[in-house]
Amino acid sequence: MKYNEILDSIYWVGVNDHDTTLFESVWPIPQGVSYNSYLIRDEKVVLFDTVKETFFLDFLDNIQHLLGDKHVDYLVVHHLEPDHSGSIKIIQDLWPEIKIVGNAKTAEFIKHLFGIENIHIVADGDTISLGRHTLQFHMTPLVHWPETMMTYCPEKKILFSGDAFGSFGAIDGAVFDSQIDLDAYEDEILRYFSNIVGKYSSMVQKAFAKLKGLEIGTIAATHGPVWKADPGYVLSRYDRWSHHEAEPGIVLAWASMYGNTERMSEAVAEGIRSTGMKKIAIHDVSKIHPSYIVADIWRYKAAVFGAPTYDAKLFPPMDNLLRLLEGKRIQKRVVGIFGTYGWSGGGVKTIKEFVESLKLELVEPVVEARFSPDADYLDQCYQLGKVIGEKAQA
Ligand code: FEO
Repeated sequence: MKYNEILDSIYWVGVNDHDTTLFESVWPIPQGVSYNSYLIRDEKVVLFDTVKETFFLDFLDNIQHLLGDKHVDYLVVHHLEPDHSGSIKIIQDLWPEIKIVGNAKTAEFIKHLFGIENIHIVADGDTISLGRHTLQFHMTPLVHWPETMMTYCPEKKILFSGDAFGSFGAIDGAVFDSQIDLDAYEDEILRYFSNIVGKYSSMVQKAFAKLKGLEIGTIAATHGPVWKADPGYVLSRYDRWSHHEAEPGIVLAWASMYGNTERMSEAVAEGIRSTGMKKIAIHDVSKIHPSYIVADIWRYKAAVFGAPTYDAKLFPPMDNLLRLLEGKRIQKRVVGIFGTYGWSGGGVKTIKEFVESLKLELVEPVVEARFSPDADYLDQCYQLGKVIGEKAQA
């Protein structure tokens, strides 16, 4: 298993998960996901994080392949979400002398999660020497849980970053960024960032500020490849995305029960295309999982939302998308709105309230047709597309 040595004496001992359909029971992972754990073999042996409990046997096999009968001295816990902490209790039962390392919040949470007490508590800047390697701990709370922290090893210039700089998508047969087609993989990095970490963008920025002085040659996150050939690839994207910086382009997210709002959506798309804008991600929110739409909205400068009214409120799949975006605190986007109503409004009003609550830039005209759009309404939709198409290029 030589290919799992990521740097001299530092190993990837994680697993790939193709069994889980929905990560956190919410997010589809058709390309799977990896749970990365790492091990440093020195005078003392340290393990960084574990894997989801159901993968424990494969995980143990990886560790024992490296260690034989030798045991692990330290288990550093960067994050307690069970995709990484699920095997902690079994590891502790296996090696009762193991020192579990975490911060004060880790100690609080691990007691409630697994009934584990008396962990080795570290604070910002604390170190542990393994012999030839030093572990230096950096607290990075809320990236994306309160107890999240990172470990830097100065001798090898490697950062064990937890979920930060992670991604969806299994890494089957690969470990490094250089072994992966990043052009194809980038969408899953963004979908992971926007749906899992994006809400905590300001905390990502605080983490960046804290890590500024470190010379980072390799990033070992808990999901996705080890960033060794070009750590700047993922660093620059996380930096840009956590600043809510967007690319020219537009998301057209629409819903329609009987085709009336769909015709308005087509008119909006025609207006957008009349500006020469080709980067249009068009999503029928009734059919596409919102995590893909959230990711595209995180990528592009502008978004248009169009939906009917349902039970005097916004059509439920669109409402679900907007509630998600509200939770993720998306910022700095230009937004257009259209929709339909029959005997009472509600749909367009709710989208407007969403735009106002996040202080997004609303473009005119807002188009709301009764039952079915006539030529005048379709022309307004075309105009809306034209205006937002221009803004999305800027
Ligand atoms: Fe990958 Fe937040 O656990």
